[in-house]
Amino acid sequence: MFQAFQQHFYPHFEAMRILSLNELFAQQKDRYEHYQIPAPGLTLDFCRQPVNQESLRLLHEFCEQINLRQRIQAMFQGEKINVTEQRAVLHVALRASDTAPPLIVEGMNVTQRIQAELHKMAEMVSRLQEQQWFGASGKAITDIVNLGIGGSDLGPRMVARALKPYHFNKLKVHFVANVDGTDLFETLSGLNPETTLFIVASKSFTTQETLLNAKTAKAWLAEAMPNQDLSAHFIGITSQKKKAINWGILPQHLFEMWDFVGGRYSLWSSIGLPIAIQVGMTHFKALLKGAELMDQHFLNAPWQENLPVIMAFLALMNQNFYGAQSHAVIPYAQLLELLPAYLQQADMESNGKSISQQGELVTYQTGVALWGGVGTNGQHAFHQLLHQGTLRIPVDFILPLQASHPYPEHQEVLIANCLAQAEALRQGQSIRSTEAELTRMGYSEAEAKNLAPHKYIPGNRPANIIFMQDLKPENLGALIAGYEHKILTQSIFWDINAFDQWGVELGKALAGPILAKIKASSFNVISTLTKALEQDV
Ligand code: F6P
Repeated sequence: MFQAFQQHFYPHFEAMRILSLNELFAQQKDRYEHYQIPAPGLTLDFCRQPVNQESLRLLHEFCEQINLRQRIQAMFQGEKINVTEQRAVLHVALRASDTAPPLIVEGMNVTQRIQAELHKMAEMVSRLQEQQWFGASGKAITDIVNLGIGGSDLGPRMVARALKPYHFNKLKVHFVANVDGTDLFETLSGLNPETTLFIVASKSFTTQETLLNAKTAKAWLAEAMPNQDLSAHFIGITSQKKKAINWGILPQHLFEMWDFVGGRYSLWSSIGLPIAIQVGMTHFKALLKGAELMDQHFLNAPWQENLPVIMAFLALMNQNFYGAQSHAVIPYAQLLELLPAYLQQADMESNGKSISQQGELVTYQTGVALWGGVGTNGQHAFHQLLHQGTLRIPVDFILPLQASHPYPEHQEVLIANCLAQAEALRQGQSIRSTEAELTRMGYSEAEAKNLAPHKYIPGNRPANIIFMQDLKPENLGALIAGYEHKILTQSIFWDINAFDQWGVELGKALAGPILAKIKASSFNVISTLTKALEQDV
C-alpha cells in the first residue's frame, strides 16, 4: 500500500518541493480561502502546506484507487480490522445516535448494549448530582477519584479539563494514574474518606498501577472507617467483570466495556463516566454528538474535503517525503493543555508499529513522536527550535475563536499570537531583509552582516490551523474524533494495524520478576535493583 502511495504522490511532491510556501502564496494571493476545509464543528486551514489543487486531485484519485471508503466502512460495520487480536474496532458505535439502525456484531446487539450502559451512566450521574449516593458512614459523596492509566485516564482527564466551564461544581472529579505513590497521596491528602468514591477504571482489570492504587485507596478508606462495608465507595469500569467482582466491587457497581473498544479510543464509553459526572449527561451526550457528526463527515465527505483524510495525507507527505520525525500539537487554549498528552497515546500507541499487516518489516517511517504544549507559553520555550532549529516539525495549531473566560482582550492577543506563529513559520525572514533592517536600525554594514545569519529565519515550515468557534462539548468531540480518524487513515496508507499495542507488554512482563526480587531482598532498592538486573531476569 505504501509503495502505491509513493508511486502516486512522489513525482508530484518532487515538483512541489521546488516551490516554497512563500512562492505558493505569491502565485495565489487568496490561497487562504482555497485551502480551508469546513467540517462539523471545525475548520482545517492547511494553506501553509506545500500542496496545490493537483495534490488534492491526486488524493481523490488515490483514495478511490485503494478503495478507502470500503476500508473505513469496514470499521463502522464491525469487521475485525484489528487482525492481530481478532477484534472489531467499534468506538464509533459508542457515539452513534440511538435512532440509527441497530448494529449487530456476531449476534450481539451492540447498539442496545451501548444504550443500556449510557442509561446506567445517566442514573449514576443523577444520583451523584442529587447527592443521593452515600458512603459507608451515610454521608453523600462529594469527590470522585478515577483510578486508571493510559486510555483509562488520559481521555477522561483531558476532556474533563477542557470542559471546565461546564463543570457541575458540587462534585469534584480527581484523576490518579501514576503508580508513584505521590500521585495518590497528594490527591487523597485533600479529601475526606467518608465522602470519596473511587472509580477503578481498567479494561483488563490487570493493570498493575491501577490495581495498586485501588488497593491503597481501599486501605486509606479502611483506616478512616474501620470495620465498615466500603462497597459504596467503589465503582468499576471493565470488560473483565469477574476479576472486578473478585477484587471486591459489587456487580451492581460495575460498568461494562467491550473488547471492540480499544483503551485509547474509550473515552466515549463508560470510561467517560468521570466526564459525565463532572459536566453532566447532557454535555457528555453533546460530546458524543460532535464525534458522531465527525464520523459522518469521515464516512461521506469527498476526499478533497475530508478533514481526517487530508490531515493524514499531509502527515505522510511531511513525514515520509520531507523526513519529519516529530509532530507538534499546539493548542492556543489553556483548557486544551492536556490534549498533546492525550494525542500522544492515541497516535503513538496506534501507529508506533514497524510490521506491516502482512507481517513484514516496513522499510519506511510510520508513527512520529507527537508532542506539544499550549500557546502562548511554548513561544517562550520550544518555538525557537520550530523557527530556527535544524528539524522540520509540522505543527497543528488549535484555535477556539471565542473565549471561555470574561477577558476579551486576552483572547485577541491569544488569537493574534497563534496566527503570527503560523505566519512566521511560513514566511521566515531572509538574510537580505534582516541585514537591511539592521542597517535601518543603525548597525554598521559589517555589524549587520555578522548578525544577520543569526537572525535569519528559514521559514517554509508547514503548519495546520484547526479553528473552532468555541470549545463547547460538540466541537471538542469532533476534534477528538477527527484525530482518531486521521490516525486510522495513516495506518491504512502505511498498511499497519493501528489497534494493537504488543510493544507495551514486554516491559510489563519484566517488571513482575524484578518486583519479586525487590520484595524478596532486604530493602536497599538501588543495590537490589542493580543485582536483580545483573542476574538477567
Ligand atoms: O499499557 C498500555 C495499555 O494497555 C493501554 O493500551 C491502555 O489504555 C492502558 O494500558 C490501560 O489498560 P487498562 O484499561 O486495561 O488498565
